Amino acid sequence: MNKLPIVILISGRGSNMQAILDRAARGELAVDVRAVISNKATASGLDSARAAGIQTEVLDHRDFGGREQYDSALQNLIDRYQPALVVLAGFMRILTPAFVRHYQGRLINIHPSLLPAFRGLDTHQRALEAGATEHGASVHFVTEELDGGPVIVQSRVPVRPDDTADSLATRVLQAEHALYPTAIGWFAAGRLRFHAGAAYLDNQALTQPVQLASTVTKT
Ligand code: GAR
Repeated sequence: MNKLPIVILISGRGSNMQAILDRAARGELAVDVRAVISNKATASGLDSARAAGIQTEVLDHRDFGGREQYDSALQNLIDRYQPALVVLAGFMRILTPAFVRHYQGRLINIHPSLLPAFRGLDTHQRALEAGATEHGASVHFVTEELDGGPVIVQSRVPVRPDDTADSLATRVLQAEHALYPTAIGWFAAGRLRFHAGAAYLDNQALTQPVQLASTVTKT
């Protein structure tokens, strides 16, 4: 089986990255993780990647004069690994239009909300404050609009009356760990593509995101 070469970008814990590595190690996801890149040397996900024998790189945004310079250096670094797909997994930076255009159709992100609801940060707290009864996560192609690219697939979780932002985040994260490998697997199988601003699965434009049955088992 041909494995899809990917590069994963992280800024922190990297539990989504780990979920991808685990699936790949079990032979359930046909990807070759060529590198994990972080903008923070302290990202604990880097240790997990190293432990799994994956090449890691740190490109600290504080070493650059601005967003354009950073993203240009990041692009050069990524392209050395020649990925067919760039996977944002908790990479907490806003990307420049030039960077996004360079990777159009091969740049995906996971976002902790049911997009288009709650773009941006603090999604769990905002869902609670809005009185949402349902929350979740979305995988989308990245476009120049922040968290605004076409959504591929979502996983929904209930909001419980006694939830805090942390308990809700834990439940959503568990769903994310099943969600992201699913979307990447579709891409690796050649089933998923981006065309003219839309996501296509099995040659059908997705007018609505696919809804993944939730695998949340507790809490
Ligand atoms: C995840 O919940 C992901 O959806 C979110 O950051 C967390 C990273 O966790 N991403 C964003 O908020 C992107 N704007 P992880 O490092 O354990 O994968």
